[in-house]
Amino acid sequence: MKLSEHSFFARDLTADIPVAVKGEGVWIWDDKGKKYLDGCSGANVSGIGHGVAEIGEVMAEQTKKIAYVPPQHFLNQPTLDLCNKILEHAPDVYTRVMLCSTGSEAIENAMKIARQYHVHNGNPSKYRMISRWQGFHGNTIAADSVSGTKKRRSISSPMLMDCTHICASHCYHCKYRLKYPGCDMMCARELDSAIINDGPENVSAFICETVVGAASCGVNPPQEYFPMIREICDKHDVLWIADEIMAGAGRTGTFLAVEQWNVFPDLVVMAKGLSCGYAPVSAILISDKVFKVFEKNNKAYVGGHTYNAHPITASVGIKVTDYMFEHGIIDHVSEKGAYLKGLLLDLASKHPIIGEVRGRGLFLGVEFVANREKHEPFPLEDAVAKRIVNLAMQKGLIVYPSQGGCADGELGDAIQITPPLIISKEEMDYIYNVLDDVIGQIEKEMGVAE
Ligand SMILES: Cc1ncc(COP(=O)(O)O)c(C=O)c1O
Repeated sequence: MKLSEHSFFARDLTADIPVAVKGEGVWIWDDKGKKYLDGCSGANVSGIGHGVAEIGEVMAEQTKKIAYVPPQHFLNQPTLDLCNKILEHAPDVYTRVMLCSTGSEAIENAMKIARQYHVHNGNPSKYRMISRWQGFHGNTIAADSVSGTKKRRSISSPMLMDCTHICASHCYHCKYRLKYPGCDMMCARELDSAIINDGPENVSAFICETVVGAASCGVNPPQEYFPMIREICDKHDVLWIADEIMAGAGRTGTFLAVEQWNVFPDLVVMAKGLSCGYAPVSAILISDKVFKVFEKNNKAYVGGHTYNAHPITASVGIKVTDYMFEHGIIDHVSEKGAYLKGLLLDLASKHPIIGEVRGRGLFLGVEFVANREKHEPFPLEDAVAKRIVNLAMQKGLIVYPSQGGCADGELGDAIQITPPLIISKEEMDYIYNVLDDVIGQIEKEMGVAE
């Protein structure tokens, strides 16, 4: 049945997608009994895998105690415990946490916290946001405004906030046509000029994904990049907000992905892996530097939502995080990621349409190109990523397509391979076998010789 025939207001009216009825580990079953390997954890969500019954038990227990209390009238223990738990696993620079429900909601609040920080710090002219092209921060209007995906933004463009975008740090498609390490990190230096052009007195914050998700599937910068971003932000009193909605909660092998660059943003936004899809939970980690300005000036944060401190969703966040650490799940991410990356590199050696395999830990991506030497993307009408995703699904593997434009804003086909962190070696081999078959078939259809 086409989605247009359901009462559900679907994103793609022409699609005909199955109804999922069961999940267990890395597997999802549809209502016809067909089994799929969830090779992208939904959208980097289901880190601990599907069907972990004890998470449901915690939800039921909390529901029996109390399901909801208004955050302006009461504190609740699960909220306090989840904030403590997040801080226990995060670097020491973060001393406060704001809980929200979705990623976009947390991004909006991070931008507001940054703005209010500057106002209370005696710099009321600072409000502007700088972000990057080929990045994604959500679908609400402000999140859309800082996102850098041209196709997605275009329909909302008259409604968007005026923001500045700098280039992505994407060595495979370097905007400056330079080669790392002889590039003088021009992509990071661009932030300095963007702040100067906007006027440092106007710029509030720079926001970027630590590892880029749906916009370009696994792109992440060289080691020098984030230390330079930190320095540039500090020089101009601009806050740095890291969007780790996809990359956080162990996906790359450390609790926060940015720990791997050994430098810390002022605000970090986490979401998906915090509750692994068992309930909507997102969080803003607030550095002591930012919190102290609110505290010193005795200023309350102006903002908030009905579900900012929801006992049930917080209890899920606690249980999921405990489950991850008690089972040592994050400890195995680097090793599993290296194995899966090895398999994808092997696919690249067999399939000429694979241009690049990239990513960290179990946050991996594969980009497809028409010409490997020139890193030249396929024309839009070939819809290579979409075809690969659709065929893989037919063959029992779910992978996530890029939003398009990862090469130059317009063109570029990539898929994200980000399975549940509990995936086994045999299940990774299954991903390899299905992708080998699927990519081979697409190459045949396109007349590309293996
Ligand atoms: C990096 C990133 N930021 C923000 C968002 C928005 O999160 P949500 O869909 O929960 O609003 C997403 C969602 O995929 C994301 O991947």
